This record gives sequence, C-alpha cells and structure tokens, in this order.
Amino acid sequence: MTLDAIPRPERGDSADPGRSLDRLRGGPTPSDPAQPRQQTRRRYLMCRPTYFAVTYAINPWMDPTAPVDTALALRQWETLRQTYLDLGHIVDEIEPLPGLPDMVFAANGATVIDGRALAAQFRDPERADEAPAYAAWLDRAGFEVHEAKHVNEGEGDLLLVGDLLLAGTGFRTSHAAHAHVQEVFGRPVVTLQLVDPRFYHLDTALCVLDDRTVAYLPEAFSPGSRAVLRRLFPDAVLATPADAAVLGLNAVSDGRHVVLPAQATGLSAALRDRGYDTIGVDLSELRKAGGGPKCCTLVLREREAIK
Ligand code: ARG
Repeated sequence: MTLDAIPRPERGDSADPGRSLDRLRGGPTPSDPAQPRQQTRRRYLMCRPTYFAVTYAINPWMDPTAPVDTALALRQWETLRQTYLDLGHIVDEIEPLPGLPDMVFAANGATVIDGRALAAQFRDPERADEAPAYAAWLDRAGFEVHEAKHVNEGEGDLLLVGDLLLAGTGFRTSHAAHAHVQEVFGRPVVTLQLVDPRFYHLDTALCVLDDRTVAYLPEAFSPGSRAVLRRLFPDAVLATPADAAVLGLNAVSDGRHVVLPAQATGLSAALRDRGYDTIGVDLSELRKAGGGPKCCTLVLREREAIK
C-alpha cells in the first residue's frame, strides 16, 4: 500500500518566520495555481447508516420531529463510498450498532496519525458508546490506541495539515484535549475557536485541501483565530456563508480530488479555479443530522509510507 507517499518539497531552515510556517505546513504553497494537483491514495474508515435517524438534537441542524428517510441515507452514503473506491482509495467499514444513529459519522470516532489512534470522548451521552466501538475496531486493525483524557470528537475537530494539527474548540472538543493531542501525536497543535453553533465541529468550517492549503469560512472563527488562519494560510480558499450553509466545507480532499456536497456550487467553482477536481455528492439526508462527506469519513494514517 502506498499511503501518504507524496514526495515532500525541499525544507530549508530559515530565520524568516514565513519560511518556518511553510515548513510546518509541509512546504511552501506552489506559486503556480495551474500546476497539476497530486493525489495521495488514502485509507478511510466508514460506517454504513443502517440505524441512521434523528432522534435527539445536539446541533442546530437536527430536528427530531422532521422525517428522515433511512433508505435514502443508505443510498447516498453508498454513492460516497463508491466515489472513494472509484478514486482508488481503500475503504474499511466498521459494523454499525443499533441505538447509535450518529455512528455513521466516522470522522468523530477517533483521530489516527502515524499508526496511532487517539480515542474519542463525546460531549453528549447520546454518542458516548460510539467511542469504545471505534477504539476496539482500531485496536483490532493494528493501530496503537490511546485513551482520551478530555472531550474530543476525533477528526471532527482535529485536522492534520502537513505537520500541523488544527484543533477546533468552542462547542465539542475541549481546549484541554488540545494539549493531550499534542502529547500523543508530537505535532504542533494550533487551537482555533469556533463561534457559530451551526459550525460546531472544525470540519464544518474548514477543509484541508492538501499538505499546505485549506478552505474555510472566516465568519465561523473568533477574530484571533481568523488572524491565525490568515497567517498560516495566506492563500487559503475562502468559502462564502452560502457554501457553508450546505455544509460545503465538510469535504474530503486527497490532494487532487475534492469530494464535497453537490449543493456547494460556489465553493466547487472556486476549487476548480485553483486546480482541484471537484466531485459533488448529495448527502441531503445525512445533513439533517448536521453531517456531510467528511463527517462520514475517518482517515486512517499508517505508521509510515510503504514505498
Ligand atoms: N449529529 C452529529 C453530531 O452532532 C453530527 C456529527 C457530524 N460530524 C462531523 N464530523 N462534523 O454530533
């Protein structure tokens, strides 16, 4: 398997702070946006929405009184899975459990980097039992599982960009978890404060496009966090409130292809302008629980690239 085997650009030491940030992000952003983007083959973990429903409300998207079509959710999810397979990715599946309607959102199940997994600890009791299920799967799959010490909702709030871990807080993952995450993974953690309850997880407000670049909705972050994002990613793709309102930023990029909600047409055009291939998928049923493609997808990062 070749996973995360993208050749790294030259990394020189430099007194220039801009260069230091470049190094943390995985190298300077290529100046030519028209250059072909490079795909990295990935391994994903997904959970079939067999028991998907909206029976409680733990974010503003969820309305337990509105009807949900589980059969349609299953078809939409299957299209997402097939999209990944068609792109050449590996998709593993975890067995869904009855009584855990949000278990389809695999991104929240853990954070997996360098063959090491930090288990999740959910804020809400309704999702608590998902954490041990994901931890057990990861353990069986050979990952080194670390127990959570604080509330953290996995890759929903912890996103790797190059060597940096962007860590959201404000709604779910606690600030205390960020320090633990840094200890477990030995990557610099950058805390980002989320301020809009509709964008309660970092992955609803920001999408990692490759080792150097992100797309995000500035309005979803506190003024200080916006300034941090501007410094780290001066050439980020800025999403509009309309893109974010269809969960457009809840997208999955392999460095070249960006799988995103089909309704996010503005963001899709902006990404195409920057040389990414975009693939729209319709996950309207899952959006009723506040989830999109990224929420359904946990990235399994192996210990090292096998060349
Ligand atoms: N209903 C779920 C929750 O509120 C949705 C989780 C979406 N996952 C994500 N990675 N944003 O917890």
